[in-house]
Amino acid sequence: MTQNILLLAGDGIGPEIMAQAVRVLEKLKSEGLDIAWDNALIGGCAVDATGVPFPPETLTKCQASDAVLLAAVGGPQYDTLPREQRPERGLLAIRKEMQVFSNLRPAVVYPELVEASTLKPEVVAGLDIIIVRELVGDIYFGEPRGIEVRQTENGSERVGFNTMIYSESEIRRIAHSAFKTAQKRHKKLCSVDKMNVLEATQLWRDVVIEVSAEYPDVELSHMLVDNAAMQLVRNPKQFDVVVTGNMFGDILSDAASMLTGSIGMLPSASLDANGKGLYEPIHGSAPDIAGKNLANPLAMILSVAMMLRHSLNKVTYADRVDNAVKTVLAQGYRTGDIMTVGGKKVGTVEMGDAVLAAL
Ligand code: NAD
Ligand code: IPM
Ligand code: MN
Repeated sequence: MTQNILLLAGDGIGPEIMAQAVRVLEKLKSEGLDIAWDNALIGGCAVDATGVPFPPETLTKCQASDAVLLAAVGGPQYDTLPREQRPERGLLAIRKEMQVFSNLRPAVVYPELVEASTLKPEVVAGLDIIIVRELVGDIYFGEPRGIEVRQTENGSERVGFNTMIYSESEIRRIAHSAFKTAQKRHKKLCSVDKMNVLEATQLWRDVVIEVSAEYPDVELSHMLVDNAAMQLVRNPKQFDVVVTGNMFGDILSDAASMLTGSIGMLPSASLDANGKGLYEPIHGSAPDIAGKNLANPLAMILSVAMMLRHSLNKVTYADRVDNAVKTVLAQGYRTGDIMTVGGKKVGTVEMGDAVLAAL
């Protein structure tokens, strides 16, 4: 049966990197992969066309598809819009609507890119970790939130406020997802929180410990988030799977990306309870390099591989895409962000050409 994919190119470098992902899909389709795709608007381009960042038509198409592939949203021209109209709200809305609570962000160092990292080769060589980020809760969604005038000890003034909140059930489901991920790997799970200060994360730690009783084969440890940030750059290979909340996971995964050489290398899968998923690179719309054929399309292409693997159950095709990325790196193709000595400098499209050839 034909599997349906929804493509959301978004803003900035989004359309450029999505174009390379589509070429990969076209190639696999021509060789027998039974898929069809449709496009829809999200983010700033949706605001421009419809006035809202996540139009109802996009939601309808999402619900009708087996998986969603998203490039990136956002841009400085939208940063002064009312918050509900900003591109990032569209991203949060699609994640919430799809209930993709489990965001898997693997950080893998390819041997050829060891020198592309700003960290010492011996620190990063061979790194293969995965951050499991809770994606539909936490301070990102908690109420109340806002900016308003209040009476403070300094008189009447504006205050900004957000609410960090996690329910037991939200923590339990992401913990299960993380333990299951660890079971398929080296069976080590580190839960990251800030329980020394924040009640919401005290509950996080308590519930993760409760859930751990069901996974006696997984070695569980805990780390405070500030220390985790430091340990990630000091000795990242001590980790196997890291599980954490939405905000800490956002920050730690950008830091982890640099271990691999570039944020342009990190794909992600965001899964719901049934394995349906939203797939996106972890980076943003990179307005500073948009429209210049400079963006690294590999995080986007690796997101296609994750989609084939996790939602479409097409493991052989997923392996082929992953292997094609390994091949182009071994052949020396480099976009500017992953440049290494002796590398062949290419643009977005030429990197796409190389991946197609390697497929
Ligand atoms: P960013 O990830 O877009 O860019 C950070 C830096 O990394 C920039 O210097 C950029 O050029 C570089 N970079 C990112 N992706 C790259 C790639 N594929 N190849 C080469 N270099 C790459 O983060 P930012 O600048 O903080 O945010 C820009 C916009 O993107 C903001 O509007 C933000 O809200 C949005 N954003 C969207 C997403 C998403 O759609 N998932 C994620 C993060 C940020
Ligand atoms: C990410 C992004 C988003 C997030 C923003 C753009 C809403 O930074 O996907 O990592 O914070 O989740
Ligand atoms: Mn982020």
